[in-house]
Amino acid sequence: MARQSDKIAPSILSADFAKLGEEVDNVLASGAGIVHFDVMDNHYVPNLTIGPLVCEALRKHGVTADIDVHMMVKPVDRIIPDFAKAGATYITFHPEASEHIDRSLQLIRNEGCKSGLVFNPATPLSHLDYVLDKVDMILLMSVNPGFGGQSFIPATMDKLRACRKLIDDSGLDIRLEIDGGVKVDNIAEIKAAGADTFVAGSGIFGFPEEGDANRYNTIVGKMMDELAKV
Ligand code: DX5
Ligand code: ZN
Repeated sequence: MARQSDKIAPSILSADFAKLGEEVDNVLASGAGIVHFDVMDNHYVPNLTIGPLVCEALRKHGVTADIDVHMMVKPVDRIIPDFAKAGATYITFHPEASEHIDRSLQLIRNEGCKSGLVFNPATPLSHLDYVLDKVDMILLMSVNPGFGGQSFIPATMDKLRACRKLIDDSGLDIRLEIDGGVKVDNIAEIKAAGADTFVAGSGIFGFPEEGDANRYNTIVGKMMDELAKV
């Protein structure tokens, strides 16, 4: 299986929620490929964000790009069908938040979505041992989940290399996504360690240009230039 193409996935957690549709349109127009949608429940993580209604609203607004729903919620199964109906492309969850990981993964695919597991900085990759054939995406957290704007945890680089080897050895078609503290100045190193999907929240939405259109062209363009170097 050839390695998947690089995709930048802006985390809308750092977007201006008062004009979310416009923000998503602008960031996609800059060349970003996937909308990263952070769902927090004030239970699994100490913060509260957005749910299926907002995902559905983005689809109704006209967003056709993949929407990557990162669920930081516990439990997970009850809300999976709601996100599928709301137009999610990927649905990922944290293994600590599900009593039955295999069942939750199957549920996501049965609902017609792509499935994924998310690994906190201290969570071992061994949760993948018997379910690798049931995931379409592996998401490695390079910060502790719950907030944007934190610093990349360097130990994630070794974990990325281990995970890249796991995927390559399996021959399966699985995206390897990184989330947390991704910026222009470290994205090339992160790609070299094995990631193909790059979530960036504050690293993109923190650098708007003047004007309504093309607000994120420069920052996303810089990230793509860095990726092209590897
Ligand atoms: C954190 C979220 C991230 C967050 C990343 O729990 O999963 O997606 O938005 O934000 P930055 O890119 O600012 O670290
Ligand atoms: Zn996220």
